[in-house]
Amino acid sequence: MTAKILDGNALSATLRQSLHERAAALAAQGCRPGLAVILVGENPASQVYVRNKIKACEAVGVHSEKYEFPADTPPEKVLSRIAALNADPKIHGILVQLPLPPQFDENAVLEAVSPEKDVDGFHAENVGLLAQGNPRFISCTPYGVMEMLRAEGVSLRGKEAVVVGRSNIVGKPMALLLIGASATVTVCHSQTRDLAFHTRRADVLICAIGKPKMITGDMIKPGAVVIDVGINRLQTGPDAGKLCGDVDFASAREVASLITPVPGGVGPMTITMLLANTIESADRAAGK
Ligand code: GUN
Repeated sequence: MTAKILDGNALSATLRQSLHERAAALAAQGCRPGLAVILVGENPASQVYVRNKIKACEAVGVHSEKYEFPADTPPEKVLSRIAALNADPKIHGILVQLPLPPQFDENAVLEAVSPEKDVDGFHAENVGLLAQGNPRFISCTPYGVMEMLRAEGVSLRGKEAVVVGRSNIVGKPMALLLIGASATVTVCHSQTRDLAFHTRRADVLICAIGKPKMITGDMIKPGAVVIDVGINRLQTGPDAGKLCGDVDFASAREVASLITPVPGGVGPMTITMLLANTIESADRAAGK
């Protein structure tokens, strides 16, 4: 079997068209959606992500503001910017790009963002609401994965779903969403004893490990749906400098029924769902 490729760019383009219309309708009512992005330090990957988020805002008519701080900024300075943005009626979403430099208590920063503007869904209150099955904001990457599965008509009820990775950003919220969709969910991580035993049982396999090409075709059940969240830059070999996922695409594609590529799979969906959360937040502010 050669898997069908799930095109995140195409789905994003469709979704962004309707987001553009929603943003224009809000703007016409005097409530143009606004997103503030905070970047601390000079991490090159974070700089690229932030640039792409700002560009995407412009393309769908969402107002954006970027606040950049040098790596040695005292945390109080960032916290006071967050407090000002919490109180700013033009801003409906606040995103603090992670990771933060070591002098920062990451949780303290995430908790400082108003839960009503936490479009990343990282505030403890929003994580709690998601765990209760009553989400306010769903973290953008797992939200994007669920949208891809929905758009493709993948049913999750009673399915074996295996999530590889237990991060707060992807693995944990992903597992909660899959439970909410009535899948039977297994979460694997770096201490899992026999990873392949678990991955081979997966009808739906979500890979969010951050290790290039770690999941190979022999670890995949024939006909499985494979979602690759990894974005890794190859350091050596003939493809050095190129992006690749956590899944070895060439071998996995011969076994799976559906698979996401890297780049062009989950990546664009993450930014699309950030726009969706920001517009949803503006809808709430406008009393819709
Ligand atoms: N760093 C890596 N992924 C993300 C994300 O989804 N949001 C934020 N704020 N930082 C990240």
